[in-house]
Amino acid sequence: VTRIVKVRAARPTDVDALLAMMAPFNRSEGIPWRPRRVAVALRRLLAEPALGMVLVAEERTERTLLGYVVATFNYDLEFAGADAFVTELFVLPAARGRGIGRRLLDAAATNVRRAGAGALHLLVQPSNRVARSLYRKAGFEEVPRRMLTRVLPRRAPRAS
Ligand SMILES: CC(C)(COP(=O)(O)OP(=O)(O)OC[C@H]1O[C@@H](n2cnc3c(N)ncnc32)[C@H](O)[C@@H]1OP(=O)(O)O)[C@@H](O)C(=O)NCCC(=O)NCCS
Repeated sequence: VTRIVKVRAARPTDVDALLAMMAPFNRSEGIPWRPRRVAVALRRLLAEPALGMVLVAEERTERTLLGYVVATFNYDLEFAGADAFVTELFVLPAARGRGIGRRLLDAAATNVRRAGAGALHLLVQPSNRVARSLYRKAGFEEVPRRMLTRVLPRRAPRAS
């Protein structure tokens, strides 16, 4: 697979192909799909490496994208500095089961580590057995904590 598929950093020219994969990823995760908002946030992520990274798996001859991973940085005293979150991992259905997901995940771990992160976290649906098996093999351990989220409203524009 290494000979036919390469993993590289995403470029601004990948945005359309990435959005085409992000739509089914979000659908599978039950996340409302808002392409325009996501396109803006994705372009910003590609332009600001301090926020995180997007890596893609590319077929070498056709140069088509087969999958992608997104990892973004946080800061946690538990890890004495930066840590990171895998927020999205997706491989096209036709390309699954060939080790591409694992390569993307390992590449994300290597890259965030190089950037100084002391841990890599992710969230997974308990029912997603394929992904859980992949994550276990890749060295991720389930922690006995619950993740809670409070969605914060965007700051209202100041009255002038
Ligand atoms: C999860 C996903 C990224 C895996 O990608 P992939 O390229 O098929 O994964 P790999 O080929 O690298 O497989 C690695 C491991 O995953 C597990 N796995 C992959 N396909 C599997 C299958 N059909 N059944 C059971 N386990 C499977 C195995 O543990 C496998 O290890 P092995 O090859 O040593 O048996 C892919 O299935 C996907 O995009 N799913 C939809 C989106 C998703 O669920 N993302 C994760 C959300 S948190």
